[in-house]
Amino acid sequence: MKIYKVLPDLSRTRHMKIWHKALRSQWSAADVDWQKPQRITRRSLKDQLGRMLTPVLMGEQAALYSVSSLIPILGQNAEVESQLYLTTWAVDEGRHTELFTRFYHRLDREPMSIRRFPAGYLFQSQIVSKDVVEWLSGVLISEVLAKLVMEGFRRLDLDPVLSEIADGILVDEARHLGFNHIYVEDKFSRLGTPANGEADALAAHLHDRLSRVLEKATPMIEALRDDLIGIGFDPDELYHDLEQEARMRLQKAIDSGRRIAAGQAEVSDPRQAEAIGA
Ligand SMILES: [Fe+2]
Ligand SMILES: [Fe+2]
Repeated sequence: MKIYKVLPDLSRTRHMKIWHKALRSQWSAADVDWQKPQRITRRSLKDQLGRMLTPVLMGEQAALYSVSSLIPILGQNAEVESQLYLTTWAVDEGRHTELFTRFYHRLDREPMSIRRFPAGYLFQSQIVSKDVVEWLSGVLISEVLAKLVMEGFRRLDLDPVLSEIADGILVDEARHLGFNHIYVEDKFSRLGTPANGEADALAAHLHDRLSRVLEKATPMIEALRDDLIGIGFDPDELYHDLEQEARMRLQKAIDSGRRIAAGQAEVSDPRQAEAIGA
């Protein structure tokens, strides 16, 4: 264990605000009323949901692993404010993992195995990185995808428990996306003026990273095309919205960081950061 500074700075006030907000917003699967009568009774719909939720549960577990592995890295970089925030992000993904595991029990179905759904596994493995900002530009895809799918469940209102889960997760995802914005914006705001080549190179690298993760999302959505349609999602619209929103969010975080570096803008407040793209 390495502690580089016994007394951390904790001077990044926005990172601290979002950490406090996360601490105050915790909830658990035990708060959900699992006894509510099931509205999904059709066997074919249960089968479709069992398959379609596979990347959702896989994504929650992958996020738990990747967030947890970045906590010590942030400590080593003396980014203690972000390290503190990520402890709550890990708790959030742990909660989501439990929620969908219990929802599978309610459905009486199982997710597809990795052998039957390699596209989902390949998508998740593309996101993994030990570099925080690089990881954030990849995980942006899975966070936006989770947000779009939860919005879809809320709109379709297939089952009262699923709608309740979706409502709670949307609040958590807004916070994850808000932190993503703040972190990337802060990173660029410290890189110097817009004329700085380092900022250009990093922006290009992050967009490239996002594109590579996005490329792996296409076969994953394609593998679930018929199930998505059967449940009430439009797979083409889902992919289109995913690409638009993720690219827009990354670009906004970079642009606003660069404007701050040039003294042309103020830093975003955590609430504004969460609302971007909403
Ligand atoms: Fe999650
Ligand atoms: Fe998340």
